[in-house]
Amino acid sequence: MDENFDGDWLALREPFDAAARSPALAEALMEHLDEKARPRFLDLGAGTGSLTRWLGHFVGRPHAWVLADGDAELMSRAFDTMMDAAEEIGWAATWPKKKTLLLHSPHGAWRIEGILADLAATEMLPLESVDAVTCSALCDLVSERWLHALAAAMAWRKLPFYAALNVSGRERFTPPLTGDALVARGFARDQRRDKGFGGIALGAGAPAAITRAFEANGYRVIRAPSPWIIPRQAREMAQELALGHAEAALRHERRSTRQIREWAEKRADQADWGQLAARVDHQDVLCLPA
Ligand SMILES: C[S@@+](CC[C@H](N)C(=O)[O-])C[C@H]1O[C@@H](n2cnc3c(N)ncnc32)[C@H](O)[C@@H]1O
Repeated sequence: MDENFDGDWLALREPFDAAARSPALAEALMEHLDEKARPRFLDLGAGTGSLTRWLGHFVGRPHAWVLADGDAELMSRAFDTMMDAAEEIGWAATWPKKKTLLLHSPHGAWRIEGILADLAATEMLPLESVDAVTCSALCDLVSERWLHALAAAMAWRKLPFYAALNVSGRERFTPPLTGDALVARGFARDQRRDKGFGGIALGAGAPAAITRAFEANGYRVIRAPSPWIIPRQAREMAQELALGHAEAALRHERRSTRQIREWAEKRADQADWGQLAARVDHQDVLCLPA
C-alpha cells in the first residue's frame, strides 16, 4: 500500500463528510437491498469507519459490515471509535468472537468485522460473501484500470456499488488570495499521482470514470452532489484543509515554493482568526445492477 492517511485528519473531517453525503443516494441503495433480510456490506478503504457510522443508520435492521483497509492502526481506531460512538448513544457493544464486534441498536445488531488487505488486487476482495460494496473518499486514489476490474467482478455477481465523496475538481477558499490558482494547480497535479492502484490516480476524474466503468458493465448510475461546506467557525478544519493543499502543491510546483509557503502562512492566520471558509465539491455515485 502506497498511501498513508492520518487518523486525526479523518476524525476531523468526519462531521463534514456526514453533512455532505447525499441521504437520497443512501436511501436509493437501501431500497435496492430491500429484499435482503440482513444485508452485508464491504467498505473499501474504510479508514476509521466514518462511512459505516453514517450509512449504517439508513439500514434500519440487522446488518453486517466488513471494513477493508491496508492500515492496521486506522483499523484498530475504527473499532474503538465504533464502540465509543455506540456507547454514546446508549447502544451496547459486545464481542461474540475475538474479531467480531456487535453493536446492539434498537433496530437490530450491526455486525462489524475487519480485513487488513492491500486493495490494489481486486481479485482478493471477498465479493462472494457480501450484498453491496461501498467506499467513501477512495475513488480519487484509484486508477481507471482498477475501477474497470472492480466493475467487471461486481457485475458478475450483480452487486451494487456505492461510492461517496468523490472530488469533482471545484474548490474555493474564501476570501480569495493571491496564490489560490497556483496551489489549486499543484493540488490537482498531486491528485493524479499514482497512489498504488496500478496507474495514474483518477483525482477529479473519479465521478465520470466510475460512471463509465459501471455503465460499460450494464449498470444504471445515479449521481448526487455532496459538497463540503466549511464555515469560518470551523477553524481547525479550514486550516488543515488549506495546509494539506499547500503540502500537496509543494510536491509539484517546486519553482514556486516560496509563494506556496507564503500562501499557507496567510491561510493559516486567516483560519486562526476565524476568517477562512471553504467549499470543496464532491459527488456521490450509486451504481445499480440491471
Ligand atoms: C481518504 S481515506 C478515506 C477513509 C474513509 N473511507 C473515510 O471516508 O474516512 C482512504 C483510505 O483508503 C485506504 N487505502 C489507500 N490505499 C489503500 C490500499 N492500496 N489498500 C488498502 N487500503 C488503502 C487508506 O488507508 C485510508 O483509510
